[in-house]
Amino acid sequence: MRKPLIAGNWKMHGSKSQIQSLIDGIKHGAPHYPHAEILVLPTFVHLDYVHNLLSHTSIQLGAQNLYLGTQGAFTGEVSGCMLTEIGCQYVLVGHSERRTLFHEDLNLVAEKFKAAVTSGLKPILCIGETKDERERGDTERVISDQLQSVIQLAGIEAFREAVIAYEPVWAIGTGLTATPEQAQAVHAFIRQLISQNHIDIANTMRILYGGSMKPDNAASLLAMPDIDGGLIGGASLSAESFLKICAEVPK
Ligand code: 13P
Repeated sequence: MRKPLIAGNWKMHGSKSQIQSLIDGIKHGAPHYPHAEILVLPTFVHLDYVHNLLSHTSIQLGAQNLYLGTQGAFTGEVSGCMLTEIGCQYVLVGHSERRTLFHEDLNLVAEKFKAAVTSGLKPILCIGETKDERERGDTERVISDQLQSVIQLAGIEAFREAVIAYEPVWAIGTGLTATPEQAQAVHAFIRQLISQNHIDIANTMRILYGGSMKPDNAASLLAMPDIDGGLIGGASLSAESFLKICAEVPK
């Protein structure tokens, strides 16, 4: 019912030559995994290049960020309709690196989510708690605040095509991964929050896990009933490890 999504967030990585060999490798392997939807999220400057490399494939393209509105005096920013025009289907919203390093607050994240939907993009809303928040027993409160602020501003209907990525901040780029049970508990909590607003959307919405997902831990995470794919950073920069994760998607 929910087609698993394996998404590679390349963050601020990649030269044209590295990207060409990475995409060649992914293109070669992707047809072996038709039961997974495969998505890559390059930097803004590489989107057009990657879009051309992906032509005649089923691999999807997304951006890592967007700004509000369609155009205007916002030096350095890129709008959702610019991303749609260049061939993006998806956009990340609220990644923890943007929340912490670039001070994006709950309201801005919610506005960006709404802007993505308005532009015809599928937002991937990233949410997750820090190590301190988990240790204080605040995980559910943090997840709930991050989700409710978007539901209140954008409305639950805006979630119809959206994806949620649960990325515990303490697991991102650290080599520490949530156990499958820890991740499943939060994913089930997220789905339950959505179902309080709309049962159909809750049942069809994909919830990805992100945070040091690697070929050796992907199978046990992806086997969990509420984990519908992965948002992968480091391991998405090699075609071999990215495809090994795709191979772990349950058929
Ligand atoms: P890592 O897989 O490198 O931990 O990154 C996860 C992430 O932030 C994906 O958005």
